[in-house]
Amino acid sequence: MTFPHSALGDASRLRWSTATAAFQIEGSRTADGRGRSIWDDFVDRPGAVIDESTAEPACDSYRRVGDDIELVAGLGVDRYRFSIPWVRIQPGGAGPANQAALDHYSRLVDGLLERGVTPFPTLYHWELPSEIEAAGGWLERDTSARFADYAGLVAERLGDRVRSWYTLNEPAMTTLQGYGTGELAPGRQLLFGALPTVHHQLLAHGKAAAALRAAGATQVGLTNNHTRVLPASGSDADLMAAFLYDTIHNRMFSEPLLTGAYPDVQALGLPAMPVQDGDMQLIAAPLDFYGVNFYNPTTVAAAGDDSPLPFDLVPTPGTPLTGFGWPIVPEALRDLLLDLARRHPDMPPIIIGENGAAFPEPRTAGRVQDDDRIAYLDAHIAAVQEAMVQGVRVDEYTVWSLMDNFEWADGYTQRFGLVHVDFDSGLRTPKASYDWYRDLIRTSRTDEGAGR
Ligand code: FCB
Repeated sequence: MTFPHSALGDASRLRWSTATAAFQIEGSRTADGRGRSIWDDFVDRPGAVIDESTAEPACDSYRRVGDDIELVAGLGVDRYRFSIPWVRIQPGGAGPANQAALDHYSRLVDGLLERGVTPFPTLYHWELPSEIEAAGGWLERDTSARFADYAGLVAERLGDRVRSWYTLNEPAMTTLQGYGTGELAPGRQLLFGALPTVHHQLLAHGKAAAALRAAGATQVGLTNNHTRVLPASGSDADLMAAFLYDTIHNRMFSEPLLTGAYPDVQALGLPAMPVQDGDMQLIAAPLDFYGVNFYNPTTVAAAGDDSPLPFDLVPTPGTPLTGFGWPIVPEALRDLLLDLARRHPDMPPIIIGENGAAFPEPRTAGRVQDDDRIAYLDAHIAAVQEAMVQGVRVDEYTVWSLMDNFEWADGYTQRFGLVHVDFDSGLRTPKASYDWYRDLIRTSRTDEGAGR
């Protein structure tokens, strides 16, 4: 159960949001001169996406943006987190802005503002232009400068109305699964050879943040995927494997941003980061918020002798699972927040940039009574509030996702939405969780002491 607001005091002052990402909802992948991204290439690769689907038409959101705005406004959220794809703004990853695409996002921004919802865009939710990948992608330092150019173009057009920005979504997943193991685009399997992509992404964040601020932005940050790492046992080998995994999934991303230094990865036998003079100052420039996306803890064991990696991600014992097979452990979110705040006492306010769960649900349109999702969200919001009561400053909570969508390499097999989408007919039907979240938001506002 969510904490009773009377017990919360300031901890009831959460802003509420919900999120989507362009590639997962928009379709219309050639409309208005959109270029190709690594995800367009990935979905064309036989066997890369589990159900062989593409992101076409997905939720058809590029054409049905007005419907999306109505769904968002109907929830009563304070903000809507959506992404702007680099390849719509600069189809080849460089050059002048594509005005038709900017017009589109400008209309989305206006539509949200008219309905009292603050637009909170993400500039990079994984759609790297194919041309930039062909030149080395995130392995190349120059990609960070290109990204900042793109950020500047968007801010120049939208910065009069948009003040809050996420630069990057989950750079850890791009490094680990995009360049490390190949489960996500661009599908490269470089293992630890992927590590330079950490630095180039964080540098891209730092340069883009400066460009956004120059255009008047007042709230700039990024959102990292964090997991609570649990060693499979107390053995030295499992503890060491868990430490290494925690370093490359969590600390490689949080520490440069929050302390200005990478963890000592060379001591772990990993290559040094390609840092140049001035980089760490840019990366560690003060953030207005620190985004945390959380889904599940990760249990880590030492790997067998024949494994290419020194750790093994194993099932978390004794926990219920989501439809995706992810362990449901809400207190892992509380503990993760407490741990972050303990390690970084001066850190900026935290925004939960994503949290949610997929469960098996019908393909065809109809009302879904998704009690399992409601229980998941309720327990995780309570976990956030417990951390707040213990002194962690969290300003905002975001449900992933507004609606069922294209779940990357898992295609349409995983439904995370507050709104059901029938991908054959395009019909959208709010689920029970949509009504539950709307009521929770409404109640939090009428409670004494609650605020925005
Ligand atoms: C996150 C992604 C988001 C969505 C959720 C389920 O890693 O940022 O786009 O796919 O997982």
